[in-house]
Amino acid sequence: MQQISRMLHSQGKMIGFVPTMGYLHKGHIALIYHSQNVSDVTVVSIFVNPTQFGPNEDFSKYPRNLKKDMNILEDMKVDYLFLPSRVEIYPDDFQTYVNIEKITQILEGKSRPSHFRGVTTIVSILFNIIYPDIAVFGQKDAQQAFIIEKMVKDLKMPVKILVKPIVREKDGLALSSRNVYLSESERKDALVLNNSLKSAKKLISDGEREVLKIISSMKRLIAGAESAEIDYISVVDYSTFAPIREIIKGGKYYILIACRIGKTRLIDNILINA
Ligand code: PAJ
Repeated sequence: MQQISRMLHSQGKMIGFVPTMGYLHKGHIALIYHSQNVSDVTVVSIFVNPTQFGPNEDFSKYPRNLKKDMNILEDMKVDYLFLPSRVEIYPDDFQTYVNIEKITQILEGKSRPSHFRGVTTIVSILFNIIYPDIAVFGQKDAQQAFIIEKMVKDLKMPVKILVKPIVREKDGLALSSRNVYLSESERKDALVLNNSLKSAKKLISDGEREVLKIISSMKRLIAGAESAEIDYISVVDYSTFAPIREIIKGGKYYILIACRIGKTRLIDNILINA
């Protein structure tokens, strides 16, 4: 892959890259389309990255369907699929990690210690193999995208990060490979993530400025879904990811939510232009 990437660059081709863990859905597909639109050659990687899963998380049962994924990528005429083995990425003597401080300690990082260390490590390794000019990430994992942007800035990596909006099912559920874990009744309960975010957005556009009140109202709505248990709800500044207490007119924010629906942990968020 490194040889191919070098060859492509020597031919003056601009490489677009979409890293994934496979089990591709319309969210991934939107990122891939975008890469194809803005670059000469698109590389998609599929690698279920063990270092970003905690010891009690779903690494071994994370959904996989390589055949279907390959058909999707072929239909989309994606130029290259990079499909490394675990030992190619992490040989036995592997001992180097990329760690972004502070911003990885809150929200997802608080609930999933060492998760982001795994993400930034694998993304750095993939960047060092694919040498992309641009790499496309989803707003679905807004904190992840923010952290990757921070890493690229701090480490002066020669790649431009693009972040594309969340793709949702018709009823509003954000597409996620983990949605397959949901039972029929949990699938219905899972709608409270998006519904509570939409109701918060409405509250803000109606003039509410106090974050505590906005979060309380979201919590009341979520209490109506039997299988839902809140991990966190937070309102953060769009450009710093710092949690805030008050919405200011003209500000730009993310409202972020993580919930357990039964045993499945789901995240969602909404962008607010106040
Ligand atoms: P994965 O969960 O497979 O997601 C790959 C990319 O698809 C991420 O950038 C994610 O934000 C984006 N994505 C997922 N669901 C989406 C949706 N509904 N709408 C838009 N984009 C969506 O995120 C990872 O893999 C891994 O952490 C990875 C970056 C590959 C590192 O291992």
